[in-house]
Amino acid sequence: MITSADRWQGWPHVLSGKQFDRCFLERELFPLAGEMNNAAQTRDCDFLKGKRVRLLFYEPSERTLDSFVSACDLLGAKSVWLGDPAIFSSQAKGESFADMIRVVNRYEYDAIVIRSKEVGGAAKAAEVSQIPIVNAGDGSGEHPTQALLDAFTIHRSLGQIDGVRIALVGDLVYSRTIRSLAFLLAQWKVGHILFVGPVNWKIGDDVRGHLEEKGVSYSEGYDLEEVAPQVDVVYLTRAQTERGNLPLRYTDVPGQKVCVTLTQAVLEKMPDHARVLHPLPRNDQFRELPEEFTDNPKVIIFDQVRNGLLIRMALLRMLLE
Ligand code: CP
Repeated sequence: MITSADRWQGWPHVLSGKQFDRCFLERELFPLAGEMNNAAQTRDCDFLKGKRVRLLFYEPSERTLDSFVSACDLLGAKSVWLGDPAIFSSQAKGESFADMIRVVNRYEYDAIVIRSKEVGGAAKAAEVSQIPIVNAGDGSGEHPTQALLDAFTIHRSLGQIDGVRIALVGDLVYSRTIRSLAFLLAQWKVGHILFVGPVNWKIGDDVRGHLEEKGVSYSEGYDLEEVAPQVDVVYLTRAQTERGNLPLRYTDVPGQKVCVTLTQAVLEKMPDHARVLHPLPRNDQFRELPEEFTDNPKVIIFDQVRNGLLIRMALLRMLLE
């Protein structure tokens, strides 16, 4: 039962990694997500019986879409996916996005989960929606539910987030998962954040500003191998080939070594307790997390996938119960 109207800033919408505070995460969301493992396995829960969730995905997805569908199914709610809205909705005939959200609001749904191509797409929906909007990724903006599952995974695997030194690696310009995770990590007293990316591809000023405001220590570099001994978590990301001119972006600067991929040397230099995360999908062409390292005990990417289901089940219960 919801006992307060301020579970997080911006309630009931889920739009940004900045919304959540550590107290809520550690005392409410993470414990409930932990309980969801048993609920998922027994497959006989009806916490959300009679609830309906509309899924609007304007970009491809495997994990986010399937985990929200599965979360609804496992909680007894119905999820409704009517195909790519850019093709099958009346937006193809010129209807505005705002009108579409107003229409969906009239059909007895309890929440809308949106993956949009545009930065701020979910926030725009929230402006006209009476029911909760969950941002499932808005272009290169944010992916808050991914950040929640990433933080949950770090918390579970290392036992805490305070003091953790984390390298956020790869596409620092376009990775919405890096942006949301950096925002979210600022809730803790993290040891240090190292942004490791190609030369001239820096993390956004808004992320820096947020970290500075929250007093989070961070630095920037180009060589994952060099920083590997200093970190507890390596968080890899793929090059977002769909969002920019990749050959230009990953061009090396002469004399500057760039390493944004997992290698045997990186794995060996990382401390024994350190872990490698990746939001997935990984990219076969750039091989930032090569297949041969999948079963390395430090690599916990499929724990993340499972935790994504649990976090989304917990979040849906909080929003809809
Ligand atoms: N991590 C993530 O958002 O994956 P999908 O794009 O497959 O949903």
